[in-house]
Formats: sequence, structure tokens, C-alpha cells
Amino acid sequence: MTTALLRPAAILSLILPLKLQPNSPSLSNKMVLNINANNVNIINNNKGNKIRSNLNSYNSGIRKRKLPVLLFDVMDTIVRDPFYHDVPAFFGMSMKELIECKHPTAWIEFERGLIDETELAGKFFKDGRPFDLEGLKSCMTKGYSYIEGVEELLHALKQSHYEMHAFTNYPIWYELIEDKLKLSTYLSWSFCSCVTGKRKPDPDFYLEVLRHLDVEPASCVFIDDRMTNVEAAMDAGIVGIQFQNVTSLRQDLALLGIDFSLNKDNEDPAEHKAEYFP
Ligand SMILES: *[C@@H]1O[C@H](CO)[C@@H](O)[C@H](O)[C@H]1NC(C)=O
Repeated sequence: MTTALLRPAAILSLILPLKLQPNSPSLSNKMVLNINANNVNIINNNKGNKIRSNLNSYNSGIRKRKLPVLLFDVMDTIVRDPFYHDVPAFFGMSMKELIECKHPTAWIEFERGLIDETELAGKFFKDGRPFDLEGLKSCMTKGYSYIEGVEELLHALKQSHYEMHAFTNYPIWYELIEDKLKLSTYLSWSFCSCVTGKRKPDPDFYLEVLRHLDVEPASCVFIDDRMTNVEAAMDAGIVGIQFQNVTSLRQDLALLGIDFSLNKDNEDPAEHKAEYFP
């Protein structure tokens, strides 16, 4: 009964923090992790305790919260990031050339909400050269698309009533993504660097997320394509999954006992009613 029994294939992208190991005294009382040779099950042991939540609009009226809460990185996890191909092409440069002449911190300041898009336009390049800001925005908008298979997975998770939030380093242009792809159909844009002023992997950003959600870290699963961000989540006690592709993500979620079978038609609808509207 140790994590060592996980199949090696699963360990590649699924990382359980030490806190989640069975018999650990710090294991959340809301969850019990059961590990055997073939699977990992998360059993919700929360005996109907009333959930307090700061996210009242999200959880109002819900007494028993479906756990774990799922936290998604957006760029290159849910949505293709146009920054690496489309943007250099827009400027007629290679990525290397763009990196050499772009301002070292302007984009990060924009992501943290410290500067607005007009200020970004003034300092995107080190030398302050002007460029077509609206053109850049439409180039990026054109480049946003769901990563293959991810929208279907989000749909299935939503059908299974999982609480999902974006947890992303992105400027106010997340609104362009939302306008095009309507991510809010599946999740809340709850944690965006341009609103919090903090960026992953800053530990404070993770603590702020946990505080807002009012949930045990071990009752959260964080999914990001960047290992640095996943490691920071694990340091905060959150279960981390590195996103590689939708197939491996589905496997990792299944290993955690997260149910996302697409066809829920045979289910008794009263079951969910009891859960959500007691
Ligand atoms: C998905 O990622 C896994 C883990 O890296 C890899 O083994 C597999 O070949 C990938 N599958 C596809 C379809 O790319």
C-alpha cells in the first residue's frame, strides 16, 4: 500500500505529494486515498459537513461539494498558445529574433496587470518601436483553439459535476480567449495573474487560490503543461498532473478516481439532485 505500487507508466506524469500517501497523519480528513496495484481511488469521506466557501456565487446552495476541485492551467493545457509560432510570424521574425528585441519584462508586467495594453504597445519592444496592436490581437485571437480532445474532456467533467477553475498566467486578453472559445461553459476564470498580480510558480499565488476556494490542498488537482508550475502546486500539498496530451490526462484523472464517462444518460438524475439540492 504505497505509491511505489503505481504502474511506472502512470508515475511519468502523475505526481502524488507525500501528504497523499496512505497512513500519513496529514492526510485530509475529507479524503482517503486508496492505492492498489491497478488503480487509485479517492473516496470522499466528508460526512455532509457544511461547506464554507468564499466563492459564494459558485457554490451557493451546495452543501456537499464534489471533490477534488480541478484547477487548470490554460495556455498549452486547454488552449493552444499562439505566442510561439503565430506572434513571431506576425512580426516577420523567428522566435529567437523576437526574444532578442522584445522588452525583457513588458509581457510579464502585462500578465500581472501592472500595465494595460496601451502601455504594453509602448514597450513591447526594447527600443519602443511602434507596431499594430490591433493586428497583434487579431493574430492571437486567430491562433487560439482548443487543444485536441480537451474540450470533450472538459464537457465530460462538467457533466460529472466537477468544480473547475482556470489558474493561469495571462493578461486581460484572456477575454479574447473567452470570447472565441467560451471556456466559461466549463470552468470559472477564477484565478488569473492579471487580476491577482501574482504569477505561477509564486507560492503565494497557490496559497491565495487555496484560501479563496476554502478547500484542503489535498482535495485539489492541478493540471499544467509546465513541470515548474506542477512542482510548486505539489509543494503546496496539491495533487499535480503534468499535461502532455489528452490521452495521458484522461489516464491520470482516472487513476485519481475522477469519473468522466461521457454518457451519463443511464444515471438516475435524482442522484445529482440529492447531491446539489438537498
Ligand atoms: C501522450 O503522452 C504520453 C506520455 O508522455 C505518451 O507516452 C504518448 O505517446 C502520448 N500520446 C500521443 C497520442 O501523443
